[in-house]
Amino acid sequence: MLEPSLIARVRREIPVTASATYVYLNVGTMGPSPSPVHQAFLDAYQAWQDAGPGNPEVYHAAHGLMEPARQALAAYLGVAPDEVALTSNSTDGVNIVMAGLDWRKGDEVLTSDQEHPAVSVPWLNVQQRYGVVGRIFNLGSTVDEILSNFRAQLSGRTKLVVVSHVSSQTGVRLPVAEMTALAHQAGALVCIDGAQACGQFPVNVAAIGCDFYTMNGHKWLLAPGGTGGVVIRRQALERLVPAVVGAGSNEPVDYRADRRLQFVPSARRFENATRNWALYAGLTAACAYIGTLGFENIEERGLGMSRRLQAELARIPGVSVKTPADPALSTGLVTWGISGWSGREQYDALLNRFKVCGRTVGELEAVRASCAFFNLEEEIELLLRSVATLAKERA
Ligand SMILES: Cc1ncc(COP(=O)(O)O)c(C=O)c1O
Repeated sequence: MLEPSLIARVRREIPVTASATYVYLNVGTMGPSPSPVHQAFLDAYQAWQDAGPGNPEVYHAAHGLMEPARQALAAYLGVAPDEVALTSNSTDGVNIVMAGLDWRKGDEVLTSDQEHPAVSVPWLNVQQRYGVVGRIFNLGSTVDEILSNFRAQLSGRTKLVVVSHVSSQTGVRLPVAEMTALAHQAGALVCIDGAQACGQFPVNVAAIGCDFYTMNGHKWLLAPGGTGGVVIRRQALERLVPAVVGAGSNEPVDYRADRRLQFVPSARRFENATRNWALYAGLTAACAYIGTLGFENIEERGLGMSRRLQAELARIPGVSVKTPADPALSTGLVTWGISGWSGREQYDALLNRFKVCGRTVGELEAVRASCAFFNLEEEIELLLRSVATLAKERA
């Protein structure tokens, strides 16, 4: 359990909660970094610039900021550091996987009906480029429904299953371990997009058993924008051919004499070139910050608020809750519509009239709230009163 005094300290360290400009219920879009995390990034950047950023010693030290971040992500995700490639976001990881597979005409790629463009656009891309057949299964409202819909779309031709761990539309947490086992039985590889999962609850990629797991730091982990990683499990490394390569991907060979690629023997082969390495100092600090609070504690607090929000929204006349009630599927995300209000109108009214910041879910004419561990019961109560007022206005 997280003590109220600890939450109060965290809220002082997060600019948007410290200033109380509005109630921030949108970690699912971007997490606000607490000051120690933000400062770790700024300090690393400042030190790098101050020392002359291209000075080889300094440059290598900046590059070295990737390693602690890799170790921190690997520890959180339950894999070996060599299985982690650092990226700028979750979409990068989906593309590394999807552009790296040896697609053949007639191969199938299976996804759900609630994907973010991070998955759906690369899914369309491989269909158009390689003549791959795209399949979609519906997320139901119970674990059994999800698994049976999923099973019905799997076939011996499924080469890859690519799905969110947590849906950005309704916040449903997919039974990814069971799905991975079914996919592997059918001979398919599995890539999970953990953009809405990482930092919300403990994630053990080895226990899930999937081949690839992509994530970002800039949502629930509260790391700086432009941070992320992708896990390429050791046994799946050679199933991918890096589509984007450069300095760092390859062993230092003399290409004029030895004209063959010699990729480094780890997921680092998917990294290359210069980056803003100071961002990774922020990612390392974010993993330490959240890790110290405890991922179980964070999950428990977020879930306590989201379950209450969901139950009380369902009692307001005119409100339709889009997030399934099954507690096995719940996360900190809750999505609802109000009769007579478009998603955009509702979002605008919540922000401008009640100072509550959520996010629209265009596909469902709805609004989504992200209940993060640093939110307060009073903030959820304010949201509930605001939604009830809006619902009454157009009843
Ligand atoms: C499920 C899901 N995947 C991917 C993304 C995109 O994340 P990124 O910008 O880090 O690629 C989001 C962002 O909202 C998301 O909700």
